[in-house]
Amino acid sequence: MHIFSLAPLLLVMFFIFAGCSSTEDSKESLEVDITNSVILGKALFQDKDLSFTRSMSCASCHSLDRAMTDDREEATIGASLGDDENSLGDRNAPMVTYASFSPKFSSIRNVAFRGGQFWDGRAMDLVEQAKGPFLNEIEMQMPDVSSVVARVMEKESYVTALEKFYGEDVFDTDERAFEAVAQAIADYESSPEVSTFDSKFDKSEKGEILSTDLERRGESLFVSSGCSTCHTFRSVDKTPPLFTSYAYQNIGVPKNSALRLINGVSSTYIDKGLANREEYNETYQEGLFKIPSLRNVAVTAPYTHNGVFKTLKTMVHFYNTRDVPGAINPDTDMPWEPSEVMQNRFNGIGDLKLSSQDEDAIIAFLKTLTDARYEALLK
Ligand code: HEC
Ligand code: HEC
Repeated sequence: MHIFSLAPLLLVMFFIFAGCSSTEDSKESLEVDITNSVILGKALFQDKDLSFTRSMSCASCHSLDRAMTDDREEATIGASLGDDENSLGDRNAPMVTYASFSPKFSSIRNVAFRGGQFWDGRAMDLVEQAKGPFLNEIEMQMPDVSSVVARVMEKESYVTALEKFYGEDVFDTDERAFEAVAQAIADYESSPEVSTFDSKFDKSEKGEILSTDLERRGESLFVSSGCSTCHTFRSVDKTPPLFTSYAYQNIGVPKNSALRLINGVSSTYIDKGLANREEYNETYQEGLFKIPSLRNVAVTAPYTHNGVFKTLKTMVHFYNTRDVPGAINPDTDMPWEPSEVMQNRFNGIGDLKLSSQDEDAIIAFLKTLTDARYEALLK
């Protein structure tokens, strides 16, 4: 065991002892324990030993340096490279910052859908989601649950912490241990450290700073253009706005042909979004994707489920001119390619009659949604 892998152990031990010393105050020690599972989850999230070739962690595709999206060169094409440094997926890695606010996946009579994790909501929540990548054949490529648990057990610090937080018998079955690993990761992903709510937008809401005229104009255009019907300002409980209702919609994104040329997925394959899931394969469910939060969006290019749009300018111009004959995609200097799925396409967008300056104002507003620690990445 090299010295760095001792760091989480030392931290965990520190908090355990800190907890024990304040013997009378059980509430305080409980808080200390919660902090510990966050620390454990963060270590697991970044641990490359948990992938088959020991070269990839969750953070490889969800970099802590960029709102927990994929910041590797290859990802600019729209999808993520796998553990084998060769396999390329067909979907864009969404940000993990603010992902914890998505409610559990729900469907009302198989017509109205909401929440869940992944672009198609196929994981109910963060715990279920966290189990996926380890075993995914083009992500971390571990053969089975037991092999993941065996890798976790290589580190005494993890064993101690998992037993401490999830019970002495947590390793009785591989399934239980795996569940606990996923829970710790979810605890980390749900921690205030990951979702900081300290963007310029948040600060101006609190009256701490003044937004510029351009940003304010962008915000009102964002509302008047209908963006906020899907990317809503409505906040749940006391949570500041997340700029999504977590509903499912089809905005008519084209295929990512450049990606399909190199990832081995047939150019005739259609990503039907929600309807890719066996249980929701009706025509009226085709093309629906979860509305993403727009927090940190200015630093998380490329955009949409397949990463087909390279800049915010392209994204906003698409909303503005999708249905305008002859309108040009700034990424390709060619007319917009047809939507991958025409069914259920939302028609309240596509010809918004915004000027280029209006588009820039909306972009200026979107930039204010960047967490303080990522502001340096803004261009
Ligand atoms: C090889 C790259 C890769 C690795 C490694 C990876 N992910 Fe992802 N992640 C993705 C992609 C791509 C998606 C979107 C897939 C989809 O929607 O079908 C995704 C989706 C997610 C989401 C859903 C976010 C949302 O808003 O819907 C979460 C949360 C997440 N990953 C967490 C993790 C965790 C935790 C790990 C490690 C156990 C991990 N990821 C490992 C690429 C990766
Ligand atoms: C009908 C609902 C709806 C409306 C209206 C809408 N959006 Fe979206 N937005 C979505 C959905 C759904 C996606 C993801 C689509 C996909 O991946 O196929 C998305 C994606 C985005 C993205 C990319 C986010 C990312 O992380 O990839 C941006 C930026 C965005 N929208 C901004 C806007 C702006 C600006 C407007 C107004 C001009 C707007 N949206 C109007 C539903 C909507």
